[in-house]
Amino acid sequence: MQKDKVLVIDDERFSLEFFEALFADEDIEIFKFLSATDALNKIPDIKPSLVICDHLMPEMSGFEVLDIVKKNWPEITFIMITGYGTIERAVEAIKKGAYDYITKPFDNIDDILSRVQKGIENYNLKSRIKILEKNINDIYGISNIIAKSKKMIEIINTVKKIAGINSTVLITGESGTGKELIAKAIHNMSNRKNQRFLEINCSAIPENLQESLFFGYVKGTFTGADTTKKGYFEEANKGTLFLDEIGETSLNLQAKLLRAIQEKKITKVGSVEPVDVDIRLICATNRNLEELVEQKLFRQDLYYRINVINFHIPPLRDRKEDIPYLVEFFVKKYSKEFGKQIAKIEPDIFKRFYDYFWPGNVRELENVIERAVALSDRDVLTNDNIILQKEGELIADKKDFVKQYDKARAEFERIYLKSLLDTCDGNILKASKIAKLNPATIHRKISKYLKK
Ligand SMILES: Nc1ncnc2c1ncn2[C@@H]1O[C@H](COP(=O)(O)OP(=O)(O)OP(=O)(O)O)[C@@H](O)[C@H]1O
Ligand SMILES: [Mg+2]
Repeated sequence: MQKDKVLVIDDERFSLEFFEALFADEDIEIFKFLSATDALNKIPDIKPSLVICDHLMPEMSGFEVLDIVKKNWPEITFIMITGYGTIERAVEAIKKGAYDYITKPFDNIDDILSRVQKGIENYNLKSRIKILEKNINDIYGISNIIAKSKKMIEIINTVKKIAGINSTVLITGESGTGKELIAKAIHNMSNRKNQRFLEINCSAIPENLQESLFFGYVKGTFTGADTTKKGYFEEANKGTLFLDEIGETSLNLQAKLLRAIQEKKITKVGSVEPVDVDIRLICATNRNLEELVEQKLFRQDLYYRINVINFHIPPLRDRKEDIPYLVEFFVKKYSKEFGKQIAKIEPDIFKRFYDYFWPGNVRELENVIERAVALSDRDVLTNDNIILQKEGELIADKKDFVKQYDKARAEFERIYLKSLLDTCDGNILKASKIAKLNPATIHRKISKYLKK
């Protein structure tokens, strides 16, 4: 185990020797300095956990040293040595950021050792917190994703598991469900996080440009090719290539994508030299790729190749538990952005949100909140400022549904009646017994459904 490093600065040699003797039986490595300047110069190399420094020195006061240490290495714990009876100095040192103080002459050895050990502990604790914070930053991708429903929690847990491996990921789900957010989270949690995350919307690229944009081209290959240019695959080299709307690619491009993915090589347009590429591929689509495969619009082999790990992000209407948390998240986000302080949300809003079917999913919810926050002139998010584009259509839908049910029932009755009469050779009395219906009812239904 590595020893804790303690740097002691005092112009009195005996003081340095005292600490050396004190640490002899401890897991502490001591670095002694008679000169503060020398000590400060050495701090970057030594990287001590703790600096113990006398407050009264000819060259520089302990307070000056404290100041420099705090400014340059705030993580280092600082203990000031003050003269006996100068409690004001000790208080001043602590006010200025020292962790503790030790009084001279050094008579209570146990007390001094305990203060030193606590100082080291403080440093170790701070470093641990720092590591934890770093880890949180590493999973930054997750901290901006609201996931409270069981379905979303499961997705996040899987994202954490697979981020580190290189397999191709396919993210499916309706528009606005958060596919891109998940793709970015995977990248941010992978060891490629410091490399490029290149997002390409495949539906936005005209077919005749696809090949040169994805794989690049060599100077002079076609009119306008003034320079040799890298394509998306090369640009994203070592990083993550996110192909959004992969379902919109042409069959021709699909064949080339498949080759690039399988061989981990691409060839520029106008070149015969393959170039190695190392990318993590994430694809997304809001279309049903299996259906596209059946319709021969998407290559089956490419589908298998990209569908190694699949995340299906459910529509918001199927995970309504997330709504209140998303609302809170977006209210905070836009309050901050617009310099407002929204503290309350009218409860009716949640009721409407709960009943709504969210065709645009989380993106729609975010837009609705952004607008409402922008329009609010008090600290309350009011129901009046919430506009749900398709709220009326939902009611229309319901009417439609009732109509359809009536039709369905009529259809069922007709078929039932026909087979009932077939079974009873048209004997209405028999039929009425089996169906447990009044013979008159059977008559009525016959004239309704079977006599045209
Ligand atoms: N769980 C979530 N937590 C917080 N914000 C979210 C969440 N899901 C989506 N969003 C936000 O909603 C918006 C839409 O998300 P995103 O762009 O990832 O959706 P998408 O599925 O890629 O949509 P499209 O299919 O239209 O490209 C973004 O602003 C995103 O930050
Ligand atoms: Mg998207």
